[in-house]
Amino acid sequence: MKRLKIIYGIFVMLLLCVSCQAQNKETENVIIPGIEWKDASKNRINAHGGGVLYENGIYYWYGEHKIPGRSEDDKAGGGVHCYSSADLYNWKDEGVILSVDYDNPDSEIAFGCILERPKVVYNEITSKYMMYFKLYPKGKGYKYGYLGVATADSPSGPFTYSHKFLAADSEEGSGDFTLFKDTDGSVYHFTVRKPDKAFVVGKFNREYTYPDGAYRVMEEIPPHTEAPAIFVQDGRYFILGSGSTGWKPNTARAFTATSLLGPYKELGNPTKGVNPHNGMNEEKTFGGQSSYIIKVEGKENAFIAMFDLWKPEHPFDGLFVWLPIEVEGDTFNIEWRDKWDLSVFEK
Ligand code: DGJ
Repeated sequence: MKRLKIIYGIFVMLLLCVSCQAQNKETENVIIPGIEWKDASKNRINAHGGGVLYENGIYYWYGEHKIPGRSEDDKAGGGVHCYSSADLYNWKDEGVILSVDYDNPDSEIAFGCILERPKVVYNEITSKYMMYFKLYPKGKGYKYGYLGVATADSPSGPFTYSHKFLAADSEEGSGDFTLFKDTDGSVYHFTVRKPDKAFVVGKFNREYTYPDGAYRVMEEIPPHTEAPAIFVQDGRYFILGSGSTGWKPNTARAFTATSLLGPYKELGNPTKGVNPHNGMNEEKTFGGQSSYIIKVEGKENAFIAMFDLWKPEHPFDGLFVWLPIEVEGDTFNIEWRDKWDLSVFEK
């Protein structure tokens, strides 16, 4: 009996030890690209094609909310999901802060519309958080690419849908885009014009509600450059983008300029390495497509490239690849890492 008790005691201790290690592993502050990511409540993170806004010590990650169990062809878009974090490792679920409208089929964001790549900027003049997203009205496929606008009083919403417009001076609008807020508060809209896929840039008005003036074609950036993301380091601007192959991965591309509006110089493919989870290398951007570049606050020369690994059959299962950007002079590299943390920026 005594021996049995001792064996039981050892068994319980071993169990505790194993669960303690698992716990430590789960709460370790690391970024592991290309595997399923959980939020602080242990639920799968659902924020695809995202963007990040930093406000008062908190990062807000906005992304496409994909409805589980549906495919992209079967209306997986549920709106915009937001997560918040003080450290870029641990993410609190702020919920679906802009939902598609399930009740009113005439709504401009009625369930069945395509709502992609949300990005948020703050407008100091109106004190509003302004959200933009690619918006394709329900039942029309990808023909007319509107820019949808929603507003909120707080970065975690809720956001209220405001309006939509066709940007890029085109009757068919535009597609993938990124926004850049300059130091004077001006916001620039870099996007792919439809239907010719020219890469263009325009400026928003003071309220950030509509474009202010004409868009300009950026001749030096090849047409069909999708998924643009932009960052600035020491007065040098860098654009990361992809080719145009639907949901399938292709080779990343990069550009640099000493002025925001160019002219930009081509840098080629900045990515390097292999994603061991799917075997895809830099030719296919690790199986991903860029969505945004996060500036890590409080650190010098610290930027994170965000990529999506799309899963159009099960978009909810799409994965995230976040990797540090290394700027070297007038170029930059993004190397695959199995696991990393923000200490990579301390040199
Ligand atoms: C590529 C874009 O980057 C995505 O946002 C999405 O629109 C897909 N194309 C659709 O095929």
